[in-house]
Amino acid sequence: MAPHISIENIADYVDQKVTIKGWLYNSTRKGKLMFLRLRDGSGMTQGVAFRPEVGDELFEELKRLGQESSVMITGTVRENNRAPGLPRGYEIGVEQLEVVQNVADYPITPKDHGVEFLMDNRHLWLRSSQQWAIMRIRTTIKRAIIDFLDNEGFLNIDTPIITPAAAEGTSTLFELGYFDEKAYLAQTGQLYNEANIMAFGKVYCFGPTFRAEKSKTRRHLTEFWMVEPEMAFFDLDDLMDFEERFVEYIVQTTLSQRRPELELLERDLTTLENMTAPFPRISYDEAIERINAIREATDDPELQELLAIEWGDDFGSPHETELTKQFDKPVFVYGYPTQVKAFYMEPWPGRPEVCKSVDLLAPEGYGEIIGGSERMSDPDLLIAAIEKHELPLEHYQWYVDLRNFGSVPHSGFGLGLERTVAWICGIDHIRQTSPFPRTLNRMNP
Ligand code: 4AD
Ligand code: MG
Repeated sequence: MAPHISIENIADYVDQKVTIKGWLYNSTRKGKLMFLRLRDGSGMTQGVAFRPEVGDELFEELKRLGQESSVMITGTVRENNRAPGLPRGYEIGVEQLEVVQNVADYPITPKDHGVEFLMDNRHLWLRSSQQWAIMRIRTTIKRAIIDFLDNEGFLNIDTPIITPAAAEGTSTLFELGYFDEKAYLAQTGQLYNEANIMAFGKVYCFGPTFRAEKSKTRRHLTEFWMVEPEMAFFDLDDLMDFEERFVEYIVQTTLSQRRPELELLERDLTTLENMTAPFPRISYDEAIERINAIREATDDPELQELLAIEWGDDFGSPHETELTKQFDKPVFVYGYPTQVKAFYMEPWPGRPEVCKSVDLLAPEGYGEIIGGSERMSDPDLLIAAIEKHELPLEHYQWYVDLRNFGSVPHSGFGLGLERTVAWICGIDHIRQTSPFPRTLNRMNP
């Protein structure tokens, strides 16, 4: 009996008889020749059947197979440098076929479907080669994140999903009933990580976070994954030094491990090869000046309108997009106005209207992929900030407590997994980066 192999290992079986268990992606016929595109989850390869060789009966059976039929195909592996697939350059000469299920009328055909139709059929769309490639890249990025942090001596520790209060603003909270009380889905694990570092030094959490984002954009999900490293005895400069090494590692690891998938997505690989530390660092003040200069230089009235901004305003995506177009690497913007950021950020020395925050904006128009800061270490300043944001002090008492028992300068950040995947894959909408994305108007399937 021929061994059952995974397509990704097909190169190890040249001239051997093997069985592939998978699905028929599509098929084409040229007279007596039939080409089957087969996928098994691990890769894609070409099956070739020649009528005089396989006989009429098998050839007719292959002809009757509909797209996405599940099959077991046995045949001999050959090298063929023109054969498409992943890995490319191999094919299997079909000798035997076992049909598990012959499928008629698979809804997703090679023609163009609207994206809403594809999202309604997300459970099937995941099988399409581009979606498949994106998910494999996502998994590699997750692995790279974990490997990097583990190698740096971080402790991976989990933070709660059910929380009693907001950490990133009250306007995006998902509320749930918690017996007789109100609770919320976590927007971040950061505050708990600040407790964790005082016990473990360097920690990270990596899991799903939730935001009731009411805006429909290309960059917002309501459920997304965030990795949040937090470090004791770390200031803003340490943070930027660390983040650029981290992002370089993620990009370069993905490039070396998932090049065929990135090629399948037609990603421009030279721009990714360029993503090496150091990354440029500019202050919020300079960013405002640059945006105003772009505004003055353009004669597109629509862009002028979109870019209107005053010192103290937060950036919208048009600002980030135009700003990042000026750089071919990710760019750090540090020192945002206190009023646009969360309550916990350390004030800039001598400039209380500015905080020690830093965002990392990805190039090619992708914008913010990381938000981070040095954290406030003074208990009285922190209490004042909590009150100013009208947050319930009773739920933050433990957080203030951390500043009473061995307070140290400390910093951390959150990197959004899906935004990072969108950028590395070069795709224009975040919804394709999650297997089953949740957005303002979709939680199905
Ligand atoms: O800038 P944010 O809100 O920062 C925090 O939550 C901090 N507590 C993190 C920390 O310092 N530990 O979010 C961090 C990142 C963003 O840069 C973005 O990549 C991602 O999380 N993000 C989203 N991704 C998809 N959909 C959304 N609605 C997102 N909101 C934030
Ligand atoms: Mg942010």
